[in-house]
Amino acid sequence: MDERRLNTTGFNHIEDEDIELKLRPSHFDEYIGQAKVKENMQVFVKAAQGRGEVLDHVLLYGQPGLGKTTLSQIIASSMNARLKITAGPAIERPGDMAAILNELSEGDFLFIDEIHRLNRNIEEILYPAMEDFVLDIIIGKGPTARSIRLDLPRFTLIGATTRIGMLTAPLRDRFGVVQHLEPYSVADLQKIITRSATVLGVEVEPLGAEEIARRARGTPRIANRLLKRVRDFAEVQYDGKITLTVAQSSLDKLEIDKLGLDSVDKKILLAIIEKFDGGPVGLDTLAASVDEEAGTLEDVAEPYLLQLGFIQRTPRGRTATRLAYTHLGLSHFQESSEQLSLYNEINEKRS
Ligand code: ADE
Repeated sequence: MDERRLNTTGFNHIEDEDIELKLRPSHFDEYIGQAKVKENMQVFVKAAQGRGEVLDHVLLYGQPGLGKTTLSQIIASSMNARLKITAGPAIERPGDMAAILNELSEGDFLFIDEIHRLNRNIEEILYPAMEDFVLDIIIGKGPTARSIRLDLPRFTLIGATTRIGMLTAPLRDRFGVVQHLEPYSVADLQKIITRSATVLGVEVEPLGAEEIARRARGTPRIANRLLKRVRDFAEVQYDGKITLTVAQSSLDKLEIDKLGLDSVDKKILLAIIEKFDGGPVGLDTLAASVDEEAGTLEDVAEPYLLQLGFIQRTPRGRTATRLAYTHLGLSHFQESSEQLSLYNEINEKRS
């Protein structure tokens, strides 16, 4: 396998001490979960290899942290190919995109994260590159402008996005393979945590790994982050081993509740319930009231709250469901704490 990865600045060797990279599986057989996507991709890789062709362009979509980059690295290395990694917001001018494409070699993979954030004029350079492996360069301006066509090596573009709906139809239609990554089950996350604990050299009991998995909101990236923090508690306050009790007490101290909700999630739910009387409230208003970016709220917090059935998206905005009230220990019909204190204040002034 070619161990090299590319980033926007060139080739980098994987550093042994780089824990983040070590936690990532590098072969299909080490990759846990996403069974359907994994099986499909293995078929497409094998078929392309059998025909001696490059893999068709691939679009991976799903919530942040589900392993789109990791999967891309595995796909590239399974074809003994190099992977150049970049991201939509990093490509500012059409010239940047042309330079990236021009540096590719036959069979390379180009990974563009957050591909929905590419500007339209940059996207247009990709169309002929994806379809015919050519780069159309416009020289000059106005009536004397002319276009020259450069041949590109055959390559595979892997686009990753958290928002498939924000991709333009012409770009989306140029991907021959479109795969959706789903949130992981607790059982799969437990396996990932157990594997990561071995990589990190920390002992974890099955129930300890399961407890971390339950609070990792379906996401390997969060599972690994929580594992590292629980390991800190285990080493400093206990004997180093992650048991159920160690996992529970550490995660409680980190204010990650039984379902994996953190203080931001709770702030959002309480805002809908207490400030907006349960909703509906528009995304921008809600985001402003909890001092978060609307985009972050929509990409990071909201998918999990929707998945749990704690909020609903309606045409008029977000509403909190009965389940959210129950989880927060509030009664659906009870006045919110803010309403109650206002009520008490008014009554006190009266008496
Ligand atoms: N680490 C992060 N994601 C993983 C996965 N899907 N399988 C195994 N280890 C992982």
